[in-house]
Amino acid sequence: MRENIVFSDLAKQLAATAREIAEKHVRPSAAKYDRLQEYNWEAARAVAEAGLFKTFVPKEYDGHGAGSLALCMVTEELARADSGFGVAFAVNALGSFPILVGGTEEQKARWLPSIARGEKMVAFCLSEKFAGSDAGGLSVTAELDGDEYVICGEKKWTTNGGIADIYSVFCVTDATSKSRRISTIVVEKGTPGFEIKKTEDKMGIRCVPVVETHFDHVRVPKGNLLGGRPGMGFRHAMMTLDLARPGVASQAVGAAQGALDLALHYANRRQQFGQPISSFQMVQKMLADMAMKTEAARWLVYAAAGAIDQGQVERISKRAAMAKCFATDVAMEVATDAVQIFGGYGFMEDYPIAKCFRDAKILQIYEGTNQIQRIVIARHLIREAAELEHLAAYVPLEVQRTYKEGEVLADA
Ligand code: CAA
Repeated sequence: MRENIVFSDLAKQLAATAREIAEKHVRPSAAKYDRLQEYNWEAARAVAEAGLFKTFVPKEYDGHGAGSLALCMVTEELARADSGFGVAFAVNALGSFPILVGGTEEQKARWLPSIARGEKMVAFCLSEKFAGSDAGGLSVTAELDGDEYVICGEKKWTTNGGIADIYSVFCVTDATSKSRRISTIVVEKGTPGFEIKKTEDKMGIRCVPVVETHFDHVRVPKGNLLGGRPGMGFRHAMMTLDLARPGVASQAVGAAQGALDLALHYANRRQQFGQPISSFQMVQKMLADMAMKTEAARWLVYAAAGAIDQGQVERISKRAAMAKCFATDVAMEVATDAVQIFGGYGFMEDYPIAKCFRDAKILQIYEGTNQIQRIVIARHLIREAAELEHLAAYVPLEVQRTYKEGEVLADA
């Protein structure tokens, strides 16, 4: 990306507010909510009162319309204090994006203002027991019966499940179609037959609920079908993930920065051999690498978010996947090194650094595993190789002669 990344005054102000809330309402109780595996409602209320849920909602629906970069900056600040709270916030954007990318005006006006005001939380129901990375292989069905869709089946790993009021649910509406099999339907909490069953007992991000959502002949009005046209669901899901992946990447940047902050502070205080361990070159190398990687990840995220804000939709998938993959791998590496710097103390649950380590792992798994991100990146690279035709004369003659146009592109 050659364009400038524009940090608006509003984005900076929202990020500063997020930092204040993070230090006042998130960090002090992070260990408690981690232990209890409970949602931090007090912090969520502070986020709502400060208008931070408005960040990603366009102005015409009562939001700030502050854009993707602002959303990333806010998420980063919250995640810096507690990665779990960071995702609890960001999932509201993930769940809202299907409405934003696929909803009609009427649907946007119906749901988005209450999301912006923080009155309603949102969840994204894509994954199922047998459909994780293979997002097209869903089995939850929605059949049209008069003016209603009847939804049956189970979703797995629904983040924010239970606390959310609005669920963007991806359902099979035409099992016979390959490309128009799936549709997105909004289900509201309290709809008969819609139940939260298993609440997962997790390794990390324990302050945010991740649940199984069950649909037993759940009847919703036809008007809840996003866009009013069936068969658009896979596209909605992919477009949503393109917009949301920089968000999870910024959660990772926040998580990495949070672990680095703790490690730095510790390394300056911890005395061994009569001096702070930060004076030892091997520790300095670790700290320097952690800082470099975190900063590189941050700018990759800002570049992806900036591209979204500038409407460069055609290459967002690759940029979003790069940001997600790189930043989340960095978060895991930085958290691992932070534990190493803390030594024996790092292995104990008495201090937040162990939680940083536990929280980091899921980042490499959700919103598309990092293996899937690499597939997305590689597919785009291979397609873009068409722009490198001017290099044809520089590859071996036999390669030029045996090359069949379209072959690699078709395989990718
Ligand atoms: N934007 C718009 N359309 C897209 C698209 C995009 N980014 N990517 C693909 N499509 C379209 C294609 O053009 C194609 O359309 P046609 O059928 O009309 O030609 C269609 O979608 C199918 O595309 P593919 O052939 O590329 O699909 P695929 O089956 O090979 O799958 C995949 C691609 C990238 C592997 C995808 O399945 C994927 O992203 N999987 C990962 C799922 C995922 O990220 N899950 C995360 C769950 S949410 C979560 O984890 C949140 C949380 O808890 C916090």
